[in-house]
Amino acid sequence: VGLQKRVDSYLRDYIFQKSGNTDSFQDNGFSRSNSSCSVATDEGLFEQPEPLPQSKAAMEKVVWRRCMQMRSQQQAWQESPEGRKMLEFRRGLPAYKEKNALLMAISNNQVVIISGETGCGKTTQIPQFILESEIESVRGVPCSIICTQPRRISAMSVSERVAAERGEKLGETVGYKVRLEGVKGRDTHLLFCTTGILLRRLLADRNLKGVTHVIVDEIHERGMNEDFLLIVLKDLLPRRPELRLILMSATLDAELFSSYFGGAPMIHIPGFTYPVHTHFLENVLEMTGYKLTPYNQIDDYGQEKTWKMNKQAPRKRKSQLASAVEDALKAADFTDFGPETRESLSCWNPDSIGFNLIEYLLCNICEKETPGAVLVFMTGWDDISSLKDKLQAHPILGDTSRVLLLACHGSMASAEQRLIFEEPEDGVRKIVLATNIAETSITINDVVFVIDCGKAKESSYDALNNTPCLLPSWISKVSAQQRRGRAGRVQPGECYHLYPRCVYEAFAEYQLPEILRTPLQSLCLQIKSLKLGSISEFLSRALQSPELLAVQNAIEYLKVIGALDENENLTVLGRYLTMLPMEPKLGKMLILGAIFNCLDPVLTVVAGLSVRDPFLTPMDKKDLAEAAKAQFSCDYSDHLALVRAYEGWKDAERDLAGYEYCWKNFLSAQSMKAIDALRREFYSLLRDTGLVDSTTTTCNSWSYDMHLLRAVICYGLYPGICSVVHNEKSYSLKTMEDGQVLLYSNSVNARDSKIPYPWLVFNEKIKVNSVFLRDSTAVSDSVLLLFGGSISRGDTAGHLKMLGGYLEFFMKPAIAEMYQSLRKELEELIQNK
Ligand code: CDP
Ligand code: MG
Repeated sequence: VGLQKRVDSYLRDYIFQKSGNTDSFQDNGFSRSNSSCSVATDEGLFEQPEPLPQSKAAMEKVVWRRCMQMRSQQQAWQESPEGRKMLEFRRGLPAYKEKNALLMAISNNQVVIISGETGCGKTTQIPQFILESEIESVRGVPCSIICTQPRRISAMSVSERVAAERGEKLGETVGYKVRLEGVKGRDTHLLFCTTGILLRRLLADRNLKGVTHVIVDEIHERGMNEDFLLIVLKDLLPRRPELRLILMSATLDAELFSSYFGGAPMIHIPGFTYPVHTHFLENVLEMTGYKLTPYNQIDDYGQEKTWKMNKQAPRKRKSQLASAVEDALKAADFTDFGPETRESLSCWNPDSIGFNLIEYLLCNICEKETPGAVLVFMTGWDDISSLKDKLQAHPILGDTSRVLLLACHGSMASAEQRLIFEEPEDGVRKIVLATNIAETSITINDVVFVIDCGKAKESSYDALNNTPCLLPSWISKVSAQQRRGRAGRVQPGECYHLYPRCVYEAFAEYQLPEILRTPLQSLCLQIKSLKLGSISEFLSRALQSPELLAVQNAIEYLKVIGALDENENLTVLGRYLTMLPMEPKLGKMLILGAIFNCLDPVLTVVAGLSVRDPFLTPMDKKDLAEAAKAQFSCDYSDHLALVRAYEGWKDAERDLAGYEYCWKNFLSAQSMKAIDALRREFYSLLRDTGLVDSTTTTCNSWSYDMHLLRAVICYGLYPGICSVVHNEKSYSLKTMEDGQVLLYSNSVNARDSKIPYPWLVFNEKIKVNSVFLRDSTAVSDSVLLLFGGSISRGDTAGHLKMLGGYLEFFMKPAIAEMYQSLRKELEELIQNK
């Protein structure tokens, strides 16, 4: 009871401080009018360029003067030698030829859908056309164009490019804004931002006051944020009849969007690409002299099958190759193209054969005469960095006087990004290892060769079992075509797909929209924070609505963790969670960590859960790796083991021995670095919410009380709990939904035959043959009682009912008694209030 009061009053105090009065909190939450709290930190970037004078005549004069200024600047640039060159380049882009038709359609219709091949000039030109025509027209209304991008890196690189095309520095007429970074000036009329930033702006300003044009780019990707934004904008359009909405897509699926917006006109920009010579795996293998032998290396959980590359005597090569490919395909069940095709395809793991092949192909290309950059599509950051390490050690590819090896992924630093677009010196070949980010959202000019591994990280969600996953999966046909198309932009090119043609034939036509394959918890929170009414009613108006069951699961989960009350309204906790753009369970841990002054280790736990598992378990050194992890074992918790490992790495890093430390302890140095960076990012987010003191620069706290940390972890991970059932020799684990469950063998809790605690809280469960739990922490009865579910105000009674269900199910008499008395006490307390 004490704890509950403390958390309650803590959260409320903050809101008092922020809003100045309680009523505004009760009614408006974080509405803009009454609070100056963190949501506002983004708003500065959207304000009117300069306060305009009050009287209409005076205002018109100021606007007119500004427009004249901009117009003469624009003219001067276009007449300068560099300006003329730039204009010439722009005039050569397919989009330029459609300029008048596009502007006409935009001025005559509230919604316009534009499609055109990647590189035709949609992103860089169309916002500029609007800007230029507004500057030229001097309509007396300052235009304000917002163009959203699904990723930070494209918002940044595109804004820079557009500023350069206009002969300006970033922050003059063109700016950008992404999370925690942005450049915008007094006279910025065109802002590139991530979709998330526009959604946050809508939180503070539902009518997008002052905005004249919204351009939603890359809609073909069907990201969750974009689909969500479209529902919100569709509602907004009748309220803002003069607002223009422009949707841009790199593929030809415009009809879907057009009919969603009541038959909005579609404009297609015809493009031109050079022919691309396509090789599939069978052709590539033929070139190499490698043979593909299937061998089933089934790991602990029967999860993965990989194929090994063997060098063969060239003479035998051909016939063996054919049968090897055939065998491999049969083994992976490629012949079964039934409804489960995609699933059976996922057994085929191109990454394991891919590295050698990619190296081989790159060498081949480097030895060719034809100049031109190489773009390699990889699954994710991990693969990119391991491949980069491998290639750097190669005598040709690692030779920096001949090869410029670059990585391109969503979370790279801005300076690194610029290199990708620059032309290398003569005689140097640029090789870019990229994720699917280079598929449509950024364009690298000089690419002639493309290598495509065929996979991308895709989040998926199994609503029935309520289990989310982020796994490499096969791309769609459209994506494969996009990847191939990247090779034919400047001259005829070559594309190597590292999968057989029959696999390509079995790809899905389009990728499933994200909203249909992701857990909806964060989305539901956003809907609530934007006050968009009933969650299920709102989502039923989406372009493609998610399954009812998925929506119900998300709502139920949010209620259980205390973010929504019984009536689906946001609780205090829920409001704070909406300000932290991460999974609610991670947000909860951070909030409680801040309140109980143990933020430093909690930041490590949360960052650790957001990256790939830093504890590595190589197949052939499993025992050694598990033993290495066990040294960090700390009171029956994988999460706290990570905290220890990180602290050790941090110390080693200070002596410049971080790599050795990781090597010795089977840790991933990359994950450690990622954790380090994320800790900083999360900390600054927390400072934005006001939960930690914004004047200090170090993490606010150094409490390492193990019991407290355990409680904070439990608070975040509930209702991921399982009961530890002891028998004579060892123990077994049970959850309410799955019955018997098992631990991954690298869990520190899997090593002991006894766990002296009655419960484990876990981060994730994965169903393979049995259900496996990953990363668990043992907790006591009292911790579960006090920290399981919602302890912030909101739905205490509901929570107790739920927890009561668990306790009854597991029939633990001692704790059930404790629970009964606690419940009575709390209910009285609530009534007396
Ligand atoms: O959006 P879309 O894929 O249609 O093309 P874009 O991003 O507007 O790019 C149009 C052209 O501008 C590209 O073909 C590139 O030649 C050039 N561009 C560039 O040189 N540097 C950039 N950072 C972006 C684009
Ligand atoms: Mg684009």
